[in-house]
Amino acid sequence: MRIIMPQSSVKSFYEKAMKNRISTQENLLAPVTMDFLKVLSNFPNGIGLRAIDLGYGYGNYSIEMAQKGFQVTAVDYVKRDYFEKRLGDTVLSGKITIIERDLNIFTPEERYDVVVSKDVLHFLRKSKVEELINVLVRQTNKRGWHYLVIFTDIRRKSGDGNEILIENEAQLTIEDLLNLINFNYHNWKVDIKVEPYQEKDRSGKEDYFKANKVTLIANNQ
Ligand SMILES: C[S@@+](CC[C@H](N)C(=O)[O-])C[C@H]1O[C@@H](n2cnc3c(N)ncnc32)[C@H](O)[C@@H]1O
Repeated sequence: MRIIMPQSSVKSFYEKAMKNRISTQENLLAPVTMDFLKVLSNFPNGIGLRAIDLGYGYGNYSIEMAQKGFQVTAVDYVKRDYFEKRLGDTVLSGKITIIERDLNIFTPEERYDVVVSKDVLHFLRKSKVEELINVLVRQTNKRGWHYLVIFTDIRRKSGDGNEILIENEAQLTIEDLLNLINFNYHNWKVDIKVEPYQEKDRSGKEDYFKANKVTLIANNQ
């Protein structure tokens, strides 16, 4: 049997995780990855530069960029208060503009030097993933970078063996994603890493979530 979960259940899951600072299976509270730090190391500092973090979650990627001086736009559909509270009155709060919005109805309007979206885009409609990648490639400045981590070929299985899908999720295959990348990233230097990925469910059942985890690091050289 296939069970289709509403998008609202994803939103409430992450809202609960943010509110209670619960580290989910994806380890939301984890520090930023070495790959991402390597991307940022291309910028001696980010003062005067602009970045966007799509699906910021707990906010570590936005904070890392703001600490480097970037002006950051952070978008997620969870309530903004959790992140606002975390930033408090610090100088970082002036560096990060929080937008509380469903990415399915968000269109980036600025030009950016760094674009980050980690473990998020697979939740969106396929047409919106295509549109966002296309728009963000065109709106990234020369020498800018993209750091995207996207799951493809997702299989979720409940304890009783049912297949679980999320309403309107992209359901990208690795071929879909590679085609999308080839189609959009002309004249960029693109590195792609594909890793098999597996997550337990909350009760510890081993193969609840299986997918290919695709990391794209691209430079508009
Ligand atoms: C796995 S977490 C990743 C968080 C963060 N990027 C990180 O790696 O630490 C996925 C995030 O995407 C957000 N998200 C999922 N679907 C979304 C949508 N349609 N619009 C806005 N945010 C969404 C969730 O609220 C959650 O914060």
